[in-house]
Amino acid sequence: MLTLSPPPALALKPYKSLSNEELAERIEAVRREMGSRLMILGHHYQQDEVIAHSDLRGDSYQLSQMAASSRDCRFIVFCGVHFMAETADILANRPEKLAERGGERVTVILPDLAAGCSMADMAGIDQVEGAWADLGEIIDTSDITPVTYINSAASLKAFCGRHGGIVCTSSNAKAVLQWSFQRTSRVFFFPDQHLGRNTALKMGITNEQMPVFDPYESELGGNNPEAITASRVVLWKGHCSVHQMFRKEHVEQFRKKFPGIKILVHPECPQEVNDLADISGSTSKIMKTVEEAPPGTKWAIGTELHLVNRLKKEHPEQEIHFLSPVVCMCATMYRIDLAHLCWSLESLAAGDPVNTIKVDEETARQSLAALERMLEVK
Ligand code: 13P
Ligand code: SF4
Repeated sequence: MLTLSPPPALALKPYKSLSNEELAERIEAVRREMGSRLMILGHHYQQDEVIAHSDLRGDSYQLSQMAASSRDCRFIVFCGVHFMAETADILANRPEKLAERGGERVTVILPDLAAGCSMADMAGIDQVEGAWADLGEIIDTSDITPVTYINSAASLKAFCGRHGGIVCTSSNAKAVLQWSFQRTSRVFFFPDQHLGRNTALKMGITNEQMPVFDPYESELGGNNPEAITASRVVLWKGHCSVHQMFRKEHVEQFRKKFPGIKILVHPECPQEVNDLADISGSTSKIMKTVEEAPPGTKWAIGTELHLVNRLKKEHPEQEIHFLSPVVCMCATMYRIDLAHLCWSLESLAAGDPVNTIKVDEETARQSLAALERMLEVK
């Protein structure tokens, strides 16, 4: 008789009725059983209950380095979002790693496949290919370096790999732009206009030299040919739905209410917020800045809510405020909960992994070229 595995939604259902304590015990039992063959990676924006079970936690850049250098592990369970799991699959299964393991692959699992990234979804490969062709009507594309923020689908990283381009994260965006300008006089930056703009402004590039390409506009992304000819950086019209909620008024209100307060923001926030902030930096820079500050320092921090709340808990010696009166949390990161984590781990331990992420070979090979360039940039 033919037996069929239950569909994933059914298999998950019983986990939803378990208490967090039961789920935590069962997750730890799988971790003990699988030992060093299993690595659970957690992005800093994950909820505390999930972070508690991560072997390693980091920001996007650190997590890609961890996946790239994984040694004993054969299974990565990625508590983050889809593009991060794709990147982990590409880096953990690159040719030299596969050779070291006698061809054995690392299986990468995203506990909930619905954990995507709204910013990554704002740039589709067909749109980017179309924009590249449009730009080629006006300027020489061999003199443009395409740069994709790591928050993008593997197909965009592959596009960069094919066209001499590179990946960046919020930790190394400036170094990546410097690398790019050593090669070409222009950059095409996608999908986050704010990270591209905030980084390039610090390098002396002006807003007049940074037209925004809107893929939903039919003519040159809504630009005239002169704007494209004058460009140094062409910015994609994309943004992070979490960080775009921080506003200049929030900074002004905090400054008024708490004289001397320091404003610390992520470069995915809009330019007017970055311009008013004391410090702007990636997730790891935000954490390091707080860790190194003297007790009693007052902060208003503009980044994802779970990270700010964790900083508050870990640094009671400092006064930490969230820079917005509204909840700015990453709803897709939040989809990874203990039920999904436990379900995916127990399915894995039972030899029937669910929600595996595997990038096709050609896309992985081309993406790797762009990712390796990034990992080499200092
Ligand atoms: P970093 O982890 O590079 O700071 O990026 C923040 C982010 O939005 C992750 O999706
Ligand atoms: Fe995407 Fe923003 Fe969430 Fe990061 S915080 S995963 S950029 S939506």
